[in-house]
Amino acid sequence: MCGIVGILGREPVAGKLVDALKRLEYRGYDSAGIATLEAGKLTRLRAEGKLRNLEDRLAKEPLRGNTGIGHTRWATHGAPTENNAHPHMTGRVSVVHNGIIENFQELRTAIAETGTVLTTDTDTEVVAHLITHELDEGHDPVVAVLHTLKRLEGAFALAIIFRDHEDLMIAARQGSPLAVGFGDGEMYLGSDAIALAPFTDTITYLQDGDWAVMTRNGLAIRDREGNAVERPVQKSVASALMVDKGNHRHFMAKEIHEQPEVVSHTLAHYIDFTNTRLQLPDLPFDFTNLNRIVISACGTAYYAGLVAKYWFERYARLPVDIDVASEFRYREVPLEPGGLALFISQSGETADTLATLRYCREQDQHIASIVNVRESSIARDSDIVLPTLAGPEIGVASTKAFTCQLAVLACLAIAAGRARGHLSEQDETELVGALIGVPRHMSALLRDESGFEALSHTLSKAHDVLYLGRGVNFPIALEGALKLKEISYIHAEGYAAGELKHGPIALIDESVPVVVAAPKDALFEKTLSNLQEVAARGGQIIVLSDAGEAELGCEVMATIPMPHAHDFVNPLIYAIPMQLIAYYTAVFMGTDVDQPRNLAKSVTVE
Ligand code: G6P
Repeated sequence: MCGIVGILGREPVAGKLVDALKRLEYRGYDSAGIATLEAGKLTRLRAEGKLRNLEDRLAKEPLRGNTGIGHTRWATHGAPTENNAHPHMTGRVSVVHNGIIENFQELRTAIAETGTVLTTDTDTEVVAHLITHELDEGHDPVVAVLHTLKRLEGAFALAIIFRDHEDLMIAARQGSPLAVGFGDGEMYLGSDAIALAPFTDTITYLQDGDWAVMTRNGLAIRDREGNAVERPVQKSVASALMVDKGNHRHFMAKEIHEQPEVVSHTLAHYIDFTNTRLQLPDLPFDFTNLNRIVISACGTAYYAGLVAKYWFERYARLPVDIDVASEFRYREVPLEPGGLALFISQSGETADTLATLRYCREQDQHIASIVNVRESSIARDSDIVLPTLAGPEIGVASTKAFTCQLAVLACLAIAAGRARGHLSEQDETELVGALIGVPRHMSALLRDESGFEALSHTLSKAHDVLYLGRGVNFPIALEGALKLKEISYIHAEGYAAGELKHGPIALIDESVPVVVAAPKDALFEKTLSNLQEVAARGGQIIVLSDAGEAELGCEVMATIPMPHAHDFVNPLIYAIPMQLIAYYTAVFMGTDVDQPRNLAKSVTVE
């Protein structure tokens, strides 16, 4: 993962590099660093931990120079120490890198054999040494980089500056995203257009295998084979405004509270509110011709896909094959040509999801994606993009993107049901009507959060928490457990409630809270039996339900009263208390809610 930036400027660039890195911190925040070229000398400053540590150091030891690169790291090779932080340098070049150089061990050995001492544990350092070696041999920077790129295996994005070339930066993209920005006598480079938004909205995206030679007056792009290529210059819609927390203590809280609004925006994109009917864009595939859909995604987006499986199968009688992308990409799944492959991703850059998409493309599938970042790699590689209109999601733990993904998937499932003749016009109106009601139910839930604050005191003492749900709410139990793990670091597992008796019930005693999603749907009675099994073993039950306490028929520790809604839309509504439980517990425990340890918002490595 990691975020990289580079600027060929007309004035000192350190401040701008830090500004751009702030916008990339979602990609990792283990360490940060910048390097600039000043008076024919490369200098750098690096700091362990968040970007603010680097800023503090820069305030005391400013870096000058009009040419520079910067990096925010999510550690893969080597501990997140200052020594392993980027940029990596020799006397002649400085390099920042996002991704993984898979053959780095072999390259390290080869470099060490030449007598060069490697001083870090990273895969990146080899790039700096290989280029330096080529320069020492008398090659110019372009040839030196070209020779080096040929020796690198893996997925990476690189930015390189050179001691002896003030007006030069070379960038390379293989797998990891890179955007080049055009300024007035200045050039910019960033892992995404958002990083460059304060400086320019004129952007070119490098394509896979491209490498670019940049000067202040423009750039020359070559493809993997070394042919000169043109890539379209486009206007980026990324906002230059730094997203702020508003009145909220954390981005996550703000994003949880934005859900009624952004789900409503997203629905408005796919629904005609006036007529309570669907209004989908033209789809480049026909649901009636499909025998099944494959869905792939990672993390929270995967759970959105899992909910959609229940919807597509129930309402459209369309079988869904779903898998996490890191498994799907290597499973060698047989796919009938002409099938539909659906990808779900907030960032649109998740490496495993992108690789799975490319596998499906090779298998002649129609590629549809549900993404939040419209300029992302996944969006650009899709036949059709069904956007979520969640706005920038900054909190690492996904919240509003998830419910917006569910909103889009719900519309798509209704469309499939209609096309395949399993839903009537009246059914469509009923289900669309239920979706239209979702933001109202969400708002009602977000009006009083005192219950969650109280609950957090109990949960914060737990070592393990179980989450149970059935049917379409089983993925919501999985998502609830994931949220708690991610931000409070408490071990939590989601289970299909009926599976409890096949193992997890052995874990239950008075010290284990069990959160149960138990809406009064067709499976309510079944879930109730599972709840009673927990109660009989002393488990501390926290039940989310629209049923009255008397209907539960057992002692519970806490009830979170839920609104009565159509069972179709319950996953969107039950997601809210799951998020709030995790959020309040993490806040009570004092963890770093928006940037939890070891995680990153966008995972562009395998
Ligand atoms: C990371 C994030 C998760 C996210 C997952 C998939 O693990 O921390 O919140 O669900 O990546 O990301 P995507 O951008 O593809 O939805």
